[in-house]
Amino acid sequence: MNFKVMKKFVILFVAIFLVSCSDQAAVSQADGSPQIPVSASNEDVPGAMGVERWNSTEQVVLGREVFTQNCAVCHGAEAQGTVVDWREKLDDGSFPPPPLNGSAHAWHHPQEILLRVIDYGGEAMGGKMPAFIDVLETDEKLAAVAYFQSFWTDEIYQQWMQMGGTN
Ligand code: HEC
Repeated sequence: MNFKVMKKFVILFVAIFLVSCSDQAAVSQADGSPQIPVSASNEDVPGAMGVERWNSTEQVVLGREVFTQNCAVCHGAEAQGTVVDWREKLDDGSFPPPPLNGSAHAWHHPQEILLRVIDYGGEAMGGKMPAFIDVLETDEKLAAVAYFQSFWTDEIYQQWMQMGGTN
């Protein structure tokens, strides 16, 4: 095969690859299972309130206070995380605090599990998150969840509801 022919093949391959990728994206959006953006495209939607949430605005306000005092040091003031890649283990083998703003996977866990993590932390599993069971009242924990969820897009919120949410 001469170089010219090979070049044509390469171009063809790249073209097919690009077309099939964009097709996939279109399909998964059309069939109602929206793709979760990997990049945080949530900046412009703090408290996207198009979809009704389980919490009140007062809970988000209280939650901001609770979060600032107890969680922000690790998870970031706006739950955006504090490290570049939360998926990469640290030198000691534990995981860094993930963002809770919808860009990581907190939305995979129903309310019950989120509250359990807050209650017991990650220390039992070799993690670094401290337990808050003796530190925060139930309404404060719920408010903290409402606060970091206020950064979730409606899309992510709905996915969370489908995966258990408040049920
Ligand atoms: C000392 C740092 C630290 C503090 C303070 C902290 N966390 Fe965490 N958090 C972590 C780490 C690290 C993880 C990952 C699990 C582990 O290793 O323990 C985590 C995991 C979580 C998760 C699970 C996220 C997921 O995607 O699975 C939630 C929810 C969470 N934290 C909420 C909170 C809330 C709410 C507070 C404040 C009340 C808080 N955290 C305070 C470090 C912290």
